[in-house]
Amino acid sequence: ASFDPARRAGSSFVVVANRLPVDRVENPDGSIRWRRSPGGLVTALEPVMRANKGAWIGWAGAPGTAPEPFDEAGMHLVSVPLSAEEVEDYYEGFSNATLWPLYHDVIAPPVYRRDWWDAYVRVNHRFADAAARVAARGAVVWVHDYQLQLVPEMLRALRPDLRIGFFLHIPFPPVELFARLPWRQQVLRGLLGADLVGFQRPGAASNFLRLTRRLLGYQTQRDQIFLPDGRVVRARSFPISIDVGELEEIARRPETERRAWEIREEIGAPSKILLGIDRLDYTKGIAERIHAFAELLNEGLLTPDEATFIQVATPSRERVEQYQLLRDEVELAVGRVNGTHGRIGRPAVTYLHHSHERTELAALYRAADVMVVTPLRDGMNLVAKEYIACRYDHTGVLILSEFAGAADEFRQALLVNPYDVDGLKQTMLQALRMEPREATRKMRAMRRHLVEHDVDRWASSFLTALSGEPGR
Ligand code: ADP
Ligand code: G6P
Repeated sequence: ASFDPARRAGSSFVVVANRLPVDRVENPDGSIRWRRSPGGLVTALEPVMRANKGAWIGWAGAPGTAPEPFDEAGMHLVSVPLSAEEVEDYYEGFSNATLWPLYHDVIAPPVYRRDWWDAYVRVNHRFADAAARVAARGAVVWVHDYQLQLVPEMLRALRPDLRIGFFLHIPFPPVELFARLPWRQQVLRGLLGADLVGFQRPGAASNFLRLTRRLLGYQTQRDQIFLPDGRVVRARSFPISIDVGELEEIARRPETERRAWEIREEIGAPSKILLGIDRLDYTKGIAERIHAFAELLNEGLLTPDEATFIQVATPSRERVEQYQLLRDEVELAVGRVNGTHGRIGRPAVTYLHHSHERTELAALYRAADVMVVTPLRDGMNLVAKEYIACRYDHTGVLILSEFAGAADEFRQALLVNPYDVDGLKQTMLQALRMEPREATRKMRAMRRHLVEHDVDRWASSFLTALSGEPGR
């Protein structure tokens, strides 16, 4: 890519993320095509990409050789190859069996392995090299998420002329948990290569500021960190959002409304539908909510004709052990409740372990009287925002965990502690029995906030802050 004469000038805006924003599709004749993946981040960045000859650096999602750089949807896409062993050690290992559980309150025990760390360093170097090659002089580079925390420092060493931003999409843990990481100093220094480090919640930004004082001995003042070389780094929260208009448009289509009605009929026309949509991840509290729902049925506080549960659980990180254990736990719980309370054509819990088109998700959101979002810990949780976006008629009730970033913004939701089974059960009953007027009042307030805080506003506030930083 570096020798492509048409691109020699480089891109003045570069995104670096573990994944490319495209999905590989096989045509009927066997040839390969790339399709833009759905998602707010790509949508939000598309205008910035188009205006700046933007480039996106990421992994194409399969081990082995990477496809040549290509252009799609106004972006120059550069794929970074990962060998099968690096997928195991860098992606499944250090990213998803060390950092992911450590940063999510150690809900599952993190595994610390030196060979995984070595792979993490090596792969982060590869991403930094790729960014250094495509970035134009003085370009803005935006690095994303926990898989690439060393990239800011590595990139700055290669290209001190760049403006570097970093955004962490997941929680950032308190000092007591982060301090367990054997490579804690290296990770902090990696992040401090950026001019601006963004987090979902203000608490995460203060955890980071405190850590730079405690573990590195740096001085901080408000959101600023003073480095020994004279650089100033800022750490602040920028709660991410979704493309509200796009999803609402899908939700308003007559065929979506028809599909929502069909879904209700197909599961036996219950009076009320509760819905969960998550990646099958132990941070999401899926088993906890199924157990709570099952207890309500077991105790006769609810019948499956009154309310049934639809749980969509997208397959995720399936070769990581904790994800395999969780799948067994959830599927056992679902089987048990259906065996006891289901009838032919009317299950108590409808469980779907696959991914869906956005149109089908919108129909599910439209069908759901109660949305159950109960993560044990979550950086933001976009599903909660997607539900609100689809409820354009101000109907529907949102149950939301206190431990999701979204809880900072939606105080009108029914907030729950997902570890409290009785509280969860009471809240489900309260949601199912809420007066329509009260539900409407709450939903209206939540929509007002959401519509004003969509993903475009998130991206532009981060990029504005990045370009306005003092830097050095
Ligand atoms: P996380 O980033 O941890 O997966 P979020 O709730 O923030 O959690 O984002 C999940 C995203 O994945 C949402 O945009 C949601 O619509 C999408 N999604 C979840 N389940 C499915 C599915 N089965 N098929 C397609 N997209 C899904
Ligand atoms: C979370 C992370 C993302 C990640 C996504 C899907 O949202 O913050 O960085 O891409 O989950 O996980 P996966 O491992 O499939 O990329």
